[in-house]
Amino acid sequence: MPEVLTKPIPVRAGNSKDSGTSADKPGAGKPLISSGRIARRVRQLGRQISETYADIDTPLVIVVILKGATVFAADLLRSLSIPAELEFVRASSYHGGTSSSGRLQLAHMVDGPLVGRHVLLVEDIVDSGLTVNTIARRIRRLGPASLRIAALLDRPARRVVEVKIDFCGFVIPDRFVIGYGLDYAGLYRELPHIYSLT
Ligand code: PRP
Repeated sequence: MPEVLTKPIPVRAGNSKDSGTSADKPGAGKPLISSGRIARRVRQLGRQISETYADIDTPLVIVVILKGATVFAADLLRSLSIPAELEFVRASSYHGGTSSSGRLQLAHMVDGPLVGRHVLLVEDIVDSGLTVNTIARRIRRLGPASLRIAALLDRPARRVVEVKIDFCGFVIPDRFVIGYGLDYAGLYRELPHIYSLT
């Protein structure tokens, strides 16, 4: 079961009085989810995924949705005890803002054939659900043996389309979050913890 954050810890975005830029300030507040907590949960998900796919006879294909999911996917991959291959999909819908524009740009689809393969789609956050839903539909057309979804964060408050998340890290409240791969206008992906900016 994912961890549900029902009482979010208030997080200050930091005041930028003493700095010419706010780019380094979110790290000054208390994280919504600490790196230690993320690491523990990712290890649990890795075990759960490894058990689920223990009997498949070809390597699992991890399809990472660029760019936000890269950090989560890298840690998740290393927590698996089964063979896995990596593929990438490039999708973007935020275009620099804090909510989905509803317009999904797909710039790259997977390289390898997925016919008959077991595919795990890896997402950093499911928000409206449009990104993962659209990509899942495209992948299903490629004839995989199975398709499941892993998402570090589930923010159900803004859901537009129904999404079944098979492996979920944390259910979060309606806050804009950054860090651990998640960005605001391209920044903050490098932060080890996850912070709320709103
Ligand atoms: C973000 C995030 C997810 C998607 C979730 O990607 O990484 O892929 O939006 O939103 P949705 O459920 O409303 O579709 P973004 O478009 O910001 O691109 P990025 O991953 O490169 O940051």
